[in-house]
Parts: sequence; structure tokens; C-alpha cells
Amino acid sequence: MDSIVVTGNGPLNGQIPIAGAKNACLTLMPATLLSDEPLTLTNAPRLSDIAMMGTLLQSLGAEVAQMQGGKVLALSSHALDTHVAEYDIVRKMRASILVLGPMLARDGHAIVSLPGGCAIGARPVDLHLRALEAMGAELDLRDGYVHAKASGGLRGGTFEFPIVSVGATENALMAATLAKGTTVLKNAAREPEIADLARCLRKMGAQIEGEETGTITVQGVDRLGGATHAVVPDRIELGTYMIAPAICGGAVECLGGRIELVQAFCDALDRAGIAVEETEGGLTVTRGDTPVRAVDVVTAPFPGFPTDLQAQMMALMCTAEGTSVLEERIFENRFMHAPELMRMGAQIDVQGGTATVTGVDRLRGAPVMATDLRASVSLILAGLAAEGETTVHRVYHLDRGYESVEQKLRNVGAKIERISGQ
Ligand code: EPU
Repeated sequence: MDSIVVTGNGPLNGQIPIAGAKNACLTLMPATLLSDEPLTLTNAPRLSDIAMMGTLLQSLGAEVAQMQGGKVLALSSHALDTHVAEYDIVRKMRASILVLGPMLARDGHAIVSLPGGCAIGARPVDLHLRALEAMGAELDLRDGYVHAKASGGLRGGTFEFPIVSVGATENALMAATLAKGTTVLKNAAREPEIADLARCLRKMGAQIEGEETGTITVQGVDRLGGATHAVVPDRIELGTYMIAPAICGGAVECLGGRIELVQAFCDALDRAGIAVEETEGGLTVTRGDTPVRAVDVVTAPFPGFPTDLQAQMMALMCTAEGTSVLEERIFENRFMHAPELMRMGAQIDVQGGTATVTGVDRLRGAPVMATDLRASVSLILAGLAAEGETTVHRVYHLDRGYESVEQKLRNVGAKIERISGQ
């Protein structure tokens, strides 16, 4: 297993291009299952999770071709060989559950393995299933699989999500496009990835309204056609690289970054004394000579502060002036980076879903263990600002969600290298 070695090297300056969003691409890809015409995705990120979704779609009989080194994905699924998404693939990536709604909507049946829990929490899929039931799906949970049927097709229904779920909204939205009649999804997720999915589905012929309001109304159509769609920029990759100059000093322009994708995060940076400026090419983050101020953060569904940037924000707060309180309200176990940051000298007290971080003058490099994707990158950010060398082990998590991370950081002056097979 690879590891990454980072050595604190002073301020970072330059430009970092932001890739297409992993989490948008992971829901756009299964949308191909809704149509027998080709779907072409441009601005796709080159990540192992995207390759995994490709493998899952191929296992169902879809064609997945990568072009321009993986930046363009040509997808097509005329007829499926099977409607069974096997455990062996699904267990490796929770987003696999997103094939359920489309297969069921198009062909009236699907069998998809239950994904199981993961490091950041139990992450059930009950809301995905309940939303599909509201559209007439008959579901049976057997042998670790969801057996779903909709004899005569799905029909429109109304479903109010008891809590906001990104994935359940995506599954339900895709399914509703081919259901007979009108579907209303209330308390739906409003993340930019949902809006991106809605835009793509509309290009395919779907009739969708309200995807940015929390109430999505879908008029089902008989069939969807093909489309070409550019994946929205990755707001989490963007926020991650915005932290890099904030923690190390310097000025970095994140090319392709858009403020509306990260407004709540920018508000937190502003309170911390970090300047964010819109430029022609994206967003520039500048850290002057003044120390970073401690700020409190509560994670929430969009447009709130994203849970996927909580670990990176914690890394920044480790050397801020004062004490900050970070509350994690989306996942029950998303502070696994805290003990690793403490190995680097951070002062963090975790009580349930609340972490209290007291800033220290300097972090010190140490060997640390990555436990999930965002935790991994927070350790790299901390390492960039630490004295000495930090070795981040188990970096395969990182490759699931960050394209060319070493190269992007090296280009702005970071000292970072990958060591194979450790
Ligand atoms: N939940 C349920 N039942 C469900 C679905 C969700 O109880 O049926 C709970 C979850 O356990 C969690 C909360 O609802 O406590 C929100 O989960 P959500 O469904 O919104 O998360 P997700 O769709 O599984 C996506 C991203 C995550 C991101 C979350 C929250 C993808 C592929 N994943 O997950 O991204 O943290 O939304 O914004 O889109 C990451 O990229 O590192 C990552 C974990």
C-alpha cells in the first residue's frame, strides 16, 4: 500500500486546477441506465471511485469507454445483461446503490446488494428504499440484497425525506423521471451535485423543477434520450485546496472554483481572517502575516458547512489562535482524523459529535494513518504546515477522491512525494 510523505516547506503560491466533482460524476454515471441512447460526460475526474462505478455499470452490461485519458466518459446501455449489482462491487463503494432507482425505473426490476456500513458511520439506505416504495416499488430484503420490482412500472408519488439525504434524493430523482405521473420529493437535498444531476437529466428529456429549493417536482416521461454533460467542479476538492494556503501561508488560485459552490465554507474562512477573492479563472485564497483566528463550525446539508470539509477545517484550526468548536451533525463517526492530528501535536478533545480544538503554535511531523478519504487529506494539509516530515499511511483512500494530489500540491511549492508499496 502506498504512503505519502509531506515535509513542511513554507508558503504555497500558484494555481491549482479543480477537477470535476467525484460525487456528481458518481450519480451522473448511473443515469445512463435510464436510457438506451449514449450519455457522454465531460470534465470527469480521474479517480478510483469513478473507475469502480464504471466496473459496476459494465458488470450490468453497460458500455463504458474512457476518452482523453479518462476526462471524458462515453456511457451507453441499450439493453442490460443482468439487473443484479453484486456484493463484491457494491461493498467497495456505497454509491453503487445509485444503480437501483434507474434500473427499476427503466425495466421494472433490480437486485442490488446492500452496501453495509463504513468507517464514518452506519450509513443505512432506508430512505432510498422508502422513497422508491412511495413510487410503487415492491421491495424485499433477502440474503443481503434488495430485490426490487415495479410490475407495470413505477408511478409518481409524494415522499417527504425525514432527514436530508443526498444519495436517497439522487436515487429517487432518477427513478421519478420515468415514473408515470407526478412525483414530489420534499425535504430533498439541495447539494450542487443534485442540481447537476437535474441539469443532465433535463438534457436527456426529463421534466424536473425545484431542485435547488428542497422540493423537487418531476413529471414522468415515457423515455429518456442521450445527452452530453460537463460535470460540475468538485466543491470539496476546491475547499481542500483553499485550505492549503490558509494553513501554510501564501496565495493560491483554484482554477474553476466558484463561490456559490462553497459559500458557507468561505464565510468560515472569512471569520478566520483568510481572504477569498473571485478571479476571472476561479478563486484566490490569500493568507497574510496575521494568525488564523479560531472559528466554530457546524456541519449541515447544503447550503450549510459541508461535512466533507470538516476534517480539513479541523487541520486549519489546529494552529489557529484560540479555541474552536467543530460540530459534526451528518455522520456519527467522522472525527477519526482527530487522534491522528493529535499525534502531530494538535490539542483536540472529542466528545460525541463535538470536537474542541485549541490551537497550538506549530504541529510536528509524525507517521499517521489515513482512515477515510477526507481524513487522509486533512493529514496531508496538517503535514504541509508541520515542522519536519509526516508520513501518511494507507493513502488508497485518497486516490478515491483526489486526482493527482501530489502533483497539484507540488506545483504550488509543497514538498510531497508518494512512496509505493508501504
Ligand atoms: N441516511 C440514512 N438513511 C439513508 C440515507 C442516509 O439514515 O437511507 C443518513 C446517513 O447515515 C447520514 C445522513 O443521512 O447520517 C446523510 O447521508 P447522505 O445520504 O446525505 O450521504 P450519502 O449520499 O451517502 C453523500 C456523499 C458523501 C457526503 C454526504 C453528505 C456521495 C457518493 N457521497 O453521501 O461524500 O459526505 O453525501 O454530504 O455523494 C465523501 O465524498 O467523502 C463523502 C463521504
